[in-house]
Amino acid sequence: QKAIGVLTSGGDAPGMNSAIRAVVRAALHKNMRVIGIRRGYSGLLAHDMFEMNLRSVSDTLHRGGTMLYSARCPEFRDDKGVERGKEACLQAGIDGLVVIGGDGSFRGARDLSLKGIPCIGLPGTIDNDIASSDYTIGFDTAVNTVMDMVDKLRDTSQSHDRCSIVEVMGRRCGDIALHAGIACGAVSILVPEVPFSIDAIVEKMQRTLRTGKKHFIVIVAEGVTSSDGVGTVHDIAEEIEARTGVESRATVLGHVQRGGAPTARERVLASEMGYHAVELLEKGIGNRVVVCHENKIVDYEILEALSMKKEFNRHLYDIADAISI
Ligand code: F6P
Repeated sequence: QKAIGVLTSGGDAPGMNSAIRAVVRAALHKNMRVIGIRRGYSGLLAHDMFEMNLRSVSDTLHRGGTMLYSARCPEFRDDKGVERGKEACLQAGIDGLVVIGGDGSFRGARDLSLKGIPCIGLPGTIDNDIASSDYTIGFDTAVNTVMDMVDKLRDTSQSHDRCSIVEVMGRRCGDIALHAGIACGAVSILVPEVPFSIDAIVEKMQRTLRTGKKHFIVIVAEGVTSSDGVGTVHDIAEEIEARTGVESRATVLGHVQRGGAPTARERVLASEMGYHAVELLEKGIGNRVVVCHENKIVDYEILEALSMKKEFNRHLYDIADAISI
């Protein structure tokens, strides 16, 4: 009887549990055994694993986080670590592995595949920074979480005629900022993909003030710096207040964005991807990532997927700029 392993790796994301559940149930349905590996590749190297059955994933579909725990594993970046990973799989009788994580985790999955353990990657990260997939598991929930939080900030900003400057996650990727910014009517959205200046934000706010608007939301993707050198949301808030006269407050949303019950869309996406991954492993196919491309679930060779360039949706960004005034 064939056995497949499943692990979650890198930053956790809502919907990972839905994906694990789909993998477990699909594999058992296809008469394969399933071995859950705790804490990503670190758990694999530590042989921290357990046999899963139909009930192992009961009541997990709707929960945030990952029931398998997650970790980043620097050891797996070099050949020695991957070799130990292969040995661990052989020892546990694992014939194939589903790795739910981001690009870094896919690199490990490729290396292990090349050593003879077929691995399938599923895109799991709130950042939506995986070029080969239109959407990653976790993104939709994170955007909805940001939207809920910013709606609350809007209430108090409106009461006090203030500007709320909100930092959101998305390491090197502005998708959370862009989508949440549109959903919340942010006057400006600052992302790593589009250069911006404080001058331009101030000018837009002044124009908007003249039309009678008195409260504002500015969304800032973590880690961005303006062309005039202003960095953190706190600096941006100070600068905006000094130059527009609008009292400003900075909020860093942080890790709340990584938690919470996955949205319906997330659960469906994760379930479909998980099932597809098992279908590939059933056929003995590895070294692939399962992605969503133009509303279809498809798979690509890992290296090909990793070499794709993510395109920022500039059109959506320009729409946001035009209608948030
Ligand atoms: O990749 C997901 C993410 O939440 C990024 O948006 C953020 O930059 C990073 O992880 C935070 O990492 P950590 O969980 O190590 O604080």
